[in-house]
Amino acid sequence: MLLSEEKKSILITGGAGFIGSNFVHHWCYQYPDSHVIVLDALTYAGNRQNIASLEDRENFKFIEGNICDRQLIDNLLKEENINIVAHFAAESHVDRSIISPDAFIQTNVIGTFTLLESFRQYWNSKDKPKNYRFLHVSTDEVYGSLEADDPAFTETTPYAPNSPYSASKAGSDHLARAYYHTYNVPTIITNCSNNYGPYHFPEKLIPLMCINILLGKPLPVYGDGQNIRDWLYVGDHCSALETVINQGKPGETYNIGGNNEVKNIDLVTILCDLMDELAPNLPVKPAQKLITFVKDRAGHDRRYAIDATKIKTELGWIPQETVEGGLRKTIQWYLDNQDWWQPLLSQEYQEYYQKVYG
Ligand code: NAD
Ligand code: TYD
Repeated sequence: MLLSEEKKSILITGGAGFIGSNFVHHWCYQYPDSHVIVLDALTYAGNRQNIASLEDRENFKFIEGNICDRQLIDNLLKEENINIVAHFAAESHVDRSIISPDAFIQTNVIGTFTLLESFRQYWNSKDKPKNYRFLHVSTDEVYGSLEADDPAFTETTPYAPNSPYSASKAGSDHLARAYYHTYNVPTIITNCSNNYGPYHFPEKLIPLMCINILLGKPLPVYGDGQNIRDWLYVGDHCSALETVINQGKPGETYNIGGNNEVKNIDLVTILCDLMDELAPNLPVKPAQKLITFVKDRAGHDRRYAIDATKIKTELGWIPQETVEGGLRKTIQWYLDNQDWWQPLLSQEYQEYYQKVYG
């Protein structure tokens, strides 16, 4: 029986972050009767505002807490009778992992281990129900970097992480895989390409460029700007994850991507042109005048590209959004939601910005 036909009680970790909060909205919309528990430590990247409009729902709970807190997780799984874990909580920014990797090991490796171990014991105590799921949300960065004419990453591409972020995610993926092979815990791993869309924290490329254009600040492009990322609108990622929860096979990995490889400099140029068109009264116009090449990121991966054939052929998922359509929606969201991002440019953020960009 597909999970979509069952009553769902879902624990969503990291549900106040970028992708997690988009997924919480997606899930609550798709399954209004589902019991939804969001667990988030509200680090600098977590923002309760992202899901505030859902907090009045009867079957919705927000818990501020850490995935490394074993007692808390044990209690939550049991008391809320959870049958699906969707695990998004992570430290997620490569530049921060270069400056201070500690939190990445704690949350991404130890935190994931804590969740898996708690879930294993809980699932055992329930007599190993076949329809329970532990979805481990991961990234294409675990596969390392591609040369210009290499084929895209498939589910069997060997892991070769290059940053403390991707290495810590790789470690967590290996644990999720091992829990299936050793204990039969029904884990599924997804490896997705770069996301963009609403609620994206300002430190990442697309929101950073949108906000800097609005403020008339330089647009810092690392190195020669020729690095390639494969962009996916966050709503498409959410629909893929829903598909994997409902139809994916335990023990399997699914790559998720939009088949949208774009060079950084081209993406920034498109953003500038769309901003010129959509934003009234820009301080600097055309916005392209703000583009500034800066020192490259240490260990900067050259190219990522996802081959999403497996999820398409086995589960029937395909993305809906084009890059231009998704970028237009995203830019409009940042224009309409200045009250959301202005407070995030806090002192802590300015200090971080200073460290990375000088
Ligand atoms: P994010 O940084 O925006 O959000 C992470 C969330 O996790 C925040 O709400 C934060 O408060 C919470 N969190 C951090 N440490 C925690 C802890 N110890 N306990 C509980 N909560 C904690 O990240 P995101 O971009 O939404 O990414 C979500 C997941 O998707 C991550 O696992 C990431 O590796 C993966 N992913 C991201 C992308 C991308 O393009 N952003 C692409 C593929 C996969
Ligand atoms: P980012 O959004 O940090 O995602 P990731 O590093 O996880 O892919 O960066 C996307 C690309 O944009 C990456 O090649 C680094 C580059 N980049 C810049 O050129 N300038 C910036 O200020 C940032 C944040 C990223």
